[in-house]
Amino acid sequence: MLQRKILITGGAGFIGSHVVRLFVNKYPHYTIFNLDKLTYAGNLKNLQDIEQAPNYTFLKGDIAESAYIFSIFEQYQFDAVIHLAAETHVDRSIENPLAFVETNVLGTVNLLNAAKKIWTTSLKQSDAVTPVFYHVSTDEVYGSLDSGGFFTETTPYAPQSPYSASKASSDHFVRAYHNTYKLPVLISNCSNNYGQHQFPEKLIPLFINNILQNKPLPVYGKGENVRDWLYVKDHARAIDVIFHYGNVGETYNVGGQNEWKNIDLVRLLCKIMDNRLGKIAGSSERLITYVTDRAGHDLRYAIDAQKLMHHLDWQPSVSFEEGLEITVDWYLQNQTWLAEVTSGAYQQYYKQQYENR
Ligand code: NAD
Ligand code: DAU
Repeated sequence: MLQRKILITGGAGFIGSHVVRLFVNKYPHYTIFNLDKLTYAGNLKNLQDIEQAPNYTFLKGDIAESAYIFSIFEQYQFDAVIHLAAETHVDRSIENPLAFVETNVLGTVNLLNAAKKIWTTSLKQSDAVTPVFYHVSTDEVYGSLDSGGFFTETTPYAPQSPYSASKASSDHFVRAYHNTYKLPVLISNCSNNYGQHQFPEKLIPLFINNILQNKPLPVYGKGENVRDWLYVKDHARAIDVIFHYGNVGETYNVGGQNEWKNIDLVRLLCKIMDNRLGKIAGSSERLITYVTDRAGHDLRYAIDAQKLMHHLDWQPSVSFEEGLEITVDWYLQNQTWLAEVTSGAYQQYYKQQYENR
């Protein structure tokens, strides 16, 4: 069996931890290195069940530090990268765009430089594996849709927030390294993920946490914005398939064919929470509070994932209702996790984001 040394960045975060777990368990002949800075969004508790696995190593470090990145590529001679590390929350990008440039743009270019150096010098001699740099990106790079149409792989980029502008920039650098230096790359652009271990600044876990604490549910604007939701383990499965079978140099869109208006999603979530908590029907909905809209709020995202479905035979495996119930149950059973990640700096963040909205 082909041995591989794979660097996964951002593996202590939400999606990254599901990808690390999948690769460590499914491919015992691969050595998986998880590089993570452990920002507020990174948590090694997300990986407790696999941290002792013989094919797993954790590296604490910052992708924005080029000397460190070069040193680990020299030391471990990775033959593949799956790059997920990023600043990911749109609201935080509105407050502090520079942090998104440092990690998402500079950090990505540091990784590209180190991969280019190693793969055109030392690794080339052995030739046992074909290296690949797989960049995990977002559908937000395509901008905002009105009520019709879908994002395809050829939709022109039109990012609208500092977050999506930084991800679009990193995608362009990845393609530029493929075009200019022939670096073998893959890119995927995915829609909104939900599931276990998502940090409770994002809509679904934030609202679960607020219902548990009987706090208002702050719906931005009129709640009419639309997102296309995908269960996180289905995204991890897509990353596995694209990594192994995707055509080098190409892009794959990943989505759930599952569009929901925010307010409809919130009502469904409230219903599940009432049911699980044994509350009178309608109790959680009474917490819904319409607040000032997000600046520059993208109206609608919707992914056309035909290419991935037809060329690589991938399909979402979990329906939204089922996935949402699994997610709610996980948060209810892991309230210690929730309490730990919402202590300290989170309190300050929450106050700043929502107090005067
Ligand atoms: P997350 O915020 O939950 O986790 C990000 C991880 O990156 C954390 O573990 C954090 O510690 C780490 N990190 C941040 N800055 C770093 C740095 N400078 N050096 C090293 N590590 C650093 O993110 P997520 O939601 O799991 O998203 C992962 C990737 O998937 C991102 O690239 C994101 O753009 C992309 N994506 C996310 C979604 C979504 O709905 N969450 C959808 C599509 C694409
Ligand atoms: O589309 C993929 C993207 O999805 C990822 O690239 C991002 O990393 C991820 O954060 C997510 O971006 P969104 O901005 O769509 O996700 P968020 O959970 O922040 O918001 C979902 C929708 O809910 C959005 O329309 C804004 C709205 N919202 C969000 C929060 C946090 C509210 O109405 N109230 C809130 O308090």
